[in-house]
Amino acid sequence: MKEALRHLPWPVTLIGTYQEGRHNLMTASWVSQVSFQPPLIMVSVAPERYTYQALMATREFAVSILAPDQAEIAQFCGERSGREVDKVKALNVKVVPPQEIKVPLLADCIANIECRVVAHHPAGDHVIFIGEVVASRVQRPEERPLLMKDWRWGVYQPL
Ligand SMILES: Cc1cc2nc3c(=O)[nH]c(=O)nc-3n(C[C@H](O)[C@H](O)[C@H](O)COP(=O)(O)O)c2cc1C
Repeated sequence: MKEALRHLPWPVTLIGTYQEGRHNLMTASWVSQVSFQPPLIMVSVAPERYTYQALMATREFAVSILAPDQAEIAQFCGERSGREVDKVKALNVKVVPPQEIKVPLLADCIANIECRVVAHHPAGDHVIFIGEVVASRVQRPEERPLLMKDWRWGVYQPL
């Protein structure tokens, strides 16, 4: 099973949350659009993540689609927890104000998608959060998205 699943490439995004004055960023690959109308996105988050607590408490999140020059940010936000470090401060990332939610948005990523949680469902050792897209902002329309396969960073290459 593992052999087949490792051929599935993953997008690389950051899930932003904002709880009690703390902005946190978590790297997430299990992210997908799941409906056109209304526009819905799913993110799959393990209950032990700091992000999980924030999602349950605030019911809001931002998905930032990362570019190849942001792999280091993805690495850091994917191995450190907001419970132990303020990742936004440590990385000194630039943020811009959101339109509809309270979560600040990453300034230099390809696009930001603002979501409000409309449902959550247990899925094995993760929980799937369904978010309705309430605003979005494209910042680098020509950039190729960062991907991951076999735990290696890669870049989307059009045919
Ligand atoms: C490329 C990559 C993708 C990841 N995707 C997910 C994911 O989809 N869901 C998840 O719960 N954790 C995922 N993680 C792990 C979290 O990013 C990691 O546990 C992080 O430290 C949690 O941060 P937090 O405690 O601040 O929420 C991923 C890590 C990497 C490196």
